[in-house]
Amino acid sequence: MAPKETEYEPLTTASVDESEGTDEHVLRPYATRTAKQRWGRAAWVVCVLALVLSNAAWIGVYRHQKDHPHDFDPILGSNTLSVMSEYVFSSPYVEGNLTEMNQRWRDMFPRGGGAVKVDPQWAVDHQLQPTQGYAKDGKAIYVVAMYHQLHCLTVIRTSLYQSHNGRDQIDDWGHVTHCLDTLRQAIQCLADPTLGGVGVRHQCRDFEALLAWTVEHAYTDNVDEMGL
Ligand SMILES: *[C@@H]1O[C@H](CO)[C@@H](O)[C@H](O)[C@H]1NC(C)=O
Repeated sequence: MAPKETEYEPLTTASVDESEGTDEHVLRPYATRTAKQRWGRAAWVVCVLALVLSNAAWIGVYRHQKDHPHDFDPILGSNTLSVMSEYVFSSPYVEGNLTEMNQRWRDMFPRGGGAVKVDPQWAVDHQLQPTQGYAKDGKAIYVVAMYHQLHCLTVIRTSLYQSHNGRDQIDDWGHVTHCLDTLRQAIQCLADPTLGGVGVRHQCRDFEALLAWTVEHAYTDNVDEMGL
């Protein structure tokens, strides 16, 4: 019996022996082709395959980058939503001794309030916005967005507690409303799609890892001047 690949041989190829009309000879086995013909065909197959595969690979890379521009974060690495955290109705940030709660809220911030300094070339390599200032050692200063957002939450919290307790509100109204909108933007940006309520686990970024990176790169030269 002839090898299976003979079934795909077109009748018009040079390998068909016109002098013998039986099916057996029309479906001439691959083996009767000359070595040159076989190599030519193999080369074509390899070329076409290479073209198709390389195109597929590049389309894949392009699609992935387009759909997931931040799958890889320069600070958190890949798999940024790596921590599961349960939503709780009450926490030590909202219930208990006010003095201790205030301390807990202050303790969320590393020294420098979330300001960091990075190598200017690192900033360029990661397409960061131009820095608004340089540290004494020439490094570029930035504020980690999470800490700006937590700062805003703290401003709102302080204002609410002062109002609730009949004291003067130290932050002006414009600052408080600006902070409200900062948090609106942050919440919409993060767009947590989790369904459910109390006790449901949410996929979160690694707060501890971001804290550790911020501490490591903390900009503390002018902590008081920056009012953080
Ligand atoms: C609250 O905690 C602080 C510090 O731990 C303590 O000095 C204070 O007495 C506490 N206040 C009340 C009302 O328990």
